[in-house]
Amino acid sequence: MEEKEIANQGFIRPARQETIEQFWAARWGIPIVTPTWIYRPGDVEGLSLRDAEERVLGLITWKVNAAQAEIVSFDTVEHSRGWGSLLLQAAEEELQAGQAESIRVFTTNDNLPGLRFYLHRGYRLVKVHLDAMDHVREIKPRVPTVGRQGVAIRDLWEVQKAL
Ligand SMILES: CC(C)(COP(=O)(O)OP(=O)(O)OC[C@H]1O[C@@H](n2cnc3c(N)ncnc32)[C@H](O)[C@@H]1OP(=O)(O)O)[C@@H](O)C(=O)NCCC(=O)NCCS
Repeated sequence: MEEKEIANQGFIRPARQETIEQFWAARWGIPIVTPTWIYRPGDVEGLSLRDAEERVLGLITWKVNAAQAEIVSFDTVEHSRGWGSLLLQAAEEELQAGQAESIRVFTTNDNLPGLRFYLHRGYRLVKVHLDAMDHVREIKPRVPTVGRQGVAIRDLWEVQKAL
């Protein structure tokens, strides 16, 4: 994908390493740890949504192994403006064109809004990785223990969609 203009919103284009690094450092901390891998910015590809002034409105990144894609990070700077839907759709198109057959995402067990977002878009909850955050905290001890609305962050939910 080169660049896609989104009417009245901005542009979606391949994310630069520098953008991924800055975004991850600000939002998640580096590396990003999932049950499958310990990801550094150089391990992933992604798409960014930028406005006309080149401000980053959102970023989605992924890694493909064989025909299985994993979304490694996905954030928008303001929610419920349609930016996440645009980015996820663009990423799915890109992955489909690259021969990925399915897409998986892990998210923490406090992220009910995130889970609902995926369920609304054809993803299914396929597994709960109980106590998976213990492994994450071995590598990133400062990951908070309490998340959204006071929920203890302990597990990872895995959602998947066939492409
Ligand atoms: C999950 C996330 C990426 C979704 O991005 P988003 O920009 O909020 O996504 P959208 O705006 O496209 O969609 C969110 C909701 O707002 C609604 N919406 C979209 N455009 C809207 C608009 N103009 N006005 C009001 N609501 C709108 C959508 O319909 C959607 O609701 P639905 O799921 O019931 O359809 C974002 O919430 C986020 O950054 N969350 C924190 C990090 C995270 O949880 N990442 C995912 C786990 S890795």
